[in-house]
Amino acid sequence: MAPYIGTATSRVDGIAKVTGAARYAAEHNTPGLLFGSVVGSTITKGRITRIDRGAALRVNGVIDVLTHEHRPQMADSDEAYRDEVAPDGSPFRPLYDDKIRFSGQPVALVVAETSETARSAASLVRVDYEREAHLTDVYRQRGTAAPVPSGGMFGPPKSRGNAEQALAAAAVRQEGEYYVPIEHHNPMELYGSTAIVEADGKLTVYDKTQGVQNVHKYLCGIFGMQPKEVRVMSPFMGGGFGSGLRPQFEVVLAVLAARALRRSVRVVLTRPQMYALGYRPAMIQHIALGANAGGTLEAITHDAITVTSQYEDFYRQETGWSGLLYKCPNARYAHKLARLDLPTSCDMRAPSAATAVYALEAAMDELAVALKLDPLDLRLRCYSDRDQNDDRSFSSKALRECYKQGAAAFGWEKRSPQPRSQRDDSELVGWGMATGIWEALQAPIAVRIVLSANGHAEVSCATSDIGTGTYTVMAQVAADVLGLPLDNISIKLGDSSLPQSPVEGGSWIATSVANAISTTADAVRDELLRLAKQVPHSPLADAAPDEVLLADGKLVSKRDATGAVAIADAMRQGGRDRVEQERTANPTLDESRAHNTHAAIFAEVKVDEELGVIRVTRVVSAVAAGRILNTKTGSSQILGGVVWGIGMALHEETLLDHKLGRIVNANYAEYHVPSNADVQDIKVIFVDEPDDSNRLGMKGLGEIGIVGVAAAIANAVYHATGKRVRDLPITLDKLRR
Ligand code: MOS
Repeated sequence: MAPYIGTATSRVDGIAKVTGAARYAAEHNTPGLLFGSVVGSTITKGRITRIDRGAALRVNGVIDVLTHEHRPQMADSDEAYRDEVAPDGSPFRPLYDDKIRFSGQPVALVVAETSETARSAASLVRVDYEREAHLTDVYRQRGTAAPVPSGGMFGPPKSRGNAEQALAAAAVRQEGEYYVPIEHHNPMELYGSTAIVEADGKLTVYDKTQGVQNVHKYLCGIFGMQPKEVRVMSPFMGGGFGSGLRPQFEVVLAVLAARALRRSVRVVLTRPQMYALGYRPAMIQHIALGANAGGTLEAITHDAITVTSQYEDFYRQETGWSGLLYKCPNARYAHKLARLDLPTSCDMRAPSAATAVYALEAAMDELAVALKLDPLDLRLRCYSDRDQNDDRSFSSKALRECYKQGAAAFGWEKRSPQPRSQRDDSELVGWGMATGIWEALQAPIAVRIVLSANGHAEVSCATSDIGTGTYTVMAQVAADVLGLPLDNISIKLGDSSLPQSPVEGGSWIATSVANAISTTADAVRDELLRLAKQVPHSPLADAAPDEVLLADGKLVSKRDATGAVAIADAMRQGGRDRVEQERTANPTLDESRAHNTHAAIFAEVKVDEELGVIRVTRVVSAVAAGRILNTKTGSSQILGGVVWGIGMALHEETLLDHKLGRIVNANYAEYHVPSNADVQDIKVIFVDEPDDSNRLGMKGLGEIGIVGVAAAIANAVYHATGKRVRDLPITLDKLRR
């Protein structure tokens, strides 16, 4: 068995991170660096009639003020601005024209010798506007929301049976409308970009992004640059969660200024300005469940409205999770999009599932109450061994085992069914549970391995490590497949000049890159074997490639361990000091089967009824996600997801003043995320789930951790209090209403 895969290996980049040696996008310095400060629109919709740059330009140390009227050439076609993950529509173009599409839209960039000067002078830029009426309230746009096209990657799946009829005929019906507000990603690291003009005139751009090659292609498109003229780097990232899948405006502004002034420029957004990037779309959903008295589902209808901008149609497959998760012969899905005067919404950790499964799992809890069944018992009665949306089996599905192990670790069997029946001193105690589901995806990706005669290997790929542990799992896989100690592996990533990678998202990178490392290591082995065969009296003279593996710095015959040739000897024989191979690995998923990860989440809350305060005192998350490469970074992924689920259930909400169309809590003081005091006992369990969909049996872990957590907590709040709050977050005012 492989020595590193599956172990709790500490982050290989951990020391660099805690000592500050790891530098982030806004930490790269160069002589003569200038600083840009963004001026954001104070209106929500309309046009700029005049920009007075005079006062800002007169400030000592200010170099220039860029606006749509005063800037270098940019592309004119939508195509040029359409990045690799852009939705349909006409992408936003920073400082392009006089139109205002959302509050906080960048309208000018003040460039100065210091960041303080730039920021101060930015307050002196005078912008006159012509206002138009705006709409930012999804509830007011309900009537005009338009259906999204069904099918495809993101449209609702095909409905089955006759859900309305089955619902009408069902013995027990449960209907409800659930709401999840707009939420923002709030990564610790601010969005920033340092565009360095090199001596030869080329640009090196350190940008905060989940996809360096996506940003690279985008910059080439909008500035008409040749690929060789610019290199985009993002070796470290302080949290992305989806907000860095698409290029953000800071990188456009930094490059625009660097090109205008032929000097290196850094642009860093402020925390409030981060709220002018994307967000998790608000979602109004109506779910109806019909069941027979025995507790099996007869019908599901799921109607969703999500929000997007006026210029792009961002949506995900929101509704189909409902009919995928539980056995149900009749299912109908509908999804409409409300266009608001906001920036385009975007992916945020487990996009669509985090919100849709919240509603489904809260509705299932309500159905369990109506049926007088234990919530876990109901899930087991409705358990589905097939993906009914596409009528296929799962490559693996150990959800039953998640329920079993999670319930045992939590002590679920001791739950008293009646709401308000469990107490701890003066507090009400509630126990709730929910199911989580996500996809196990793969994407084409390339890896280069350079193996030196001294037994050191450099493994490179343009992927990011958004904090998930990509460096570490890449090193673990490479060490195992090359048969080398972990310390002999160095990983290079986050550089657009490295072998091709998609954006890091969708929980697809670890699986994809691990496959590519294995595939490329095979090519390294094959080349080494060719060399080893030429060694005089080679014990591997007749060995076929698949009869040989790399172990302890040697090529070893699988049939006869004494038949080995040292890598160094093989290379010496061929007059080489290294072997270099690059391969692209394509997805290996068999589309005749469904590929999903699952989780069972059990939560305990304690509610002080006098004050309305809710505390999440215990969470157990049991996860089935195929082979877990690293139990330490893997657990961290799930812990982070659970913490965010606590935020989603109880704290997080982007609040708009609809009269102004502005976000009023664009800061850490008023946009509440869980703090240490909100996070208590969280236990992560990985259940065994053998899967043969790819070489290592992996599924990916980045997103499954959040799905279902908010529902488990909401259900626990109901169990504690007898009060069902369907609108997230469950704040004390709603509980006491
Ligand atoms: Mo993820 S929301 O695909 O970064």
